Amino acid sequence: MATAQETHKYPGDLNDVPGWFWPLDQVLFSWFLERQERQGTRGDLLELGAYMGKSAILLGHRLRDGETLTVCDLFGTEPPDAANRAEAAKSYSTLTRQAFERNYLSFHDALPAIVQDVSSSITDEVAPGTCRFAHIDASHLYEHVHGDIGAARDLLLPDGIVVLDDFRSEHTPGVAVAAWEAVLNRGLRPVCLSSQKLYGTWGDPEPVREELLAALRERDDIAVTVEEAAGHRLVRARAKGKRMRPPSLPSSRHPAPAPAPAAPTPAPTPRAQARPAQARPPRPRPPRERARRLALDVLPPVVTRAVRRYRAAQRAKAGATAQNTGGTGQSRP
Ligand SMILES: C[S@@+](CC[C@H](N)C(=O)[O-])C[C@H]1O[C@@H](n2cnc3c(N)ncnc32)[C@H](O)[C@@H]1O
Repeated sequence: MATAQETHKYPGDLNDVPGWFWPLDQVLFSWFLERQERQGTRGDLLELGAYMGKSAILLGHRLRDGETLTVCDLFGTEPPDAANRAEAAKSYSTLTRQAFERNYLSFHDALPAIVQDVSSSITDEVAPGTCRFAHIDASHLYEHVHGDIGAARDLLLPDGIVVLDDFRSEHTPGVAVAAWEAVLNRGLRPVCLSSQKLYGTWGDPEPVREELLAALRERDDIAVTVEEAAGHRLVRARAKGKRMRPPSLPSSRHPAPAPAPAAPTPAPTPRAQARPAQARPPRPRPPRERARRLALDVLPPVVTRAVRRYRAAQRAKAGATAQNTGGTGQSRP
């Protein structure tokens, strides 16, 4: 993935910030945070694993006076164990705290509270029972995620929302184990599952889940299904094929310049009308010919050669017939 740092120094909008925070989750984060605002729920916001700031920037957009957003990330400092080191080397080698701060300050006047440390240190930095929303997206290894979920449970308000990233991605089985373990054995109740994230609460999931279901069913860009599993009601939301209607997003103070207006098209001259000066796009091959070429490509070479010889002989024969009869000589192979 090309990073925004490689292409532009400052992000022109949230989508310029590198990360793994997809539009459906942008919509869901915004919905949960707006609902808390509507209900007058006050509390701090927490993110474990901020990377270049993509999700943190949206969290900061929902912060109200008197509330604190705390982000915790290694930001390039030495991970605590070999597996975590390998994870960081593979996926986050270009990350620096400076890049995070530059991105964040492109959208907000002030930085969040930053804990540059392992996520297990977060309980020393944030007071228990103070957060309304926690996003767990640091290490994706089981031991770390297990600890992060325990920390979130302690730091959240009773009805707070926790979000577990990559709870079902192919490359993160440790998160899946920790997530479903939390649901089955540690009292976490799922509110909603997106393609990447599990949204849950240790409070009563029913009111928020019902309200969310109603909101999602009104949208034509999100598909919703509901099923029961082990006594839990699982609401699954997925982006429909079309472009997702984005939530309110923070604006960058470095917006990309508006594209230059297209140069007016010169009036066509009679000559240009007769024959376009531009090279024409290649003519699509007729489907039969394409299929035949493909078949030849996948056949073993000895068979391919025999088929080619046979066709050449057929063509020669047809040519001779045409000469003799005065016809076109075209025939189906
Ligand atoms: C998947 S990225 C976060 C993506 C970000 N939330 C977003 O949506 O763009 C994971 C981040 O967790 C950090 N990380 C990995 N292991 C960690 C640990 N043990 N403690 C704290 N942060 C860690 C990495 O440095 C990386 O920035």
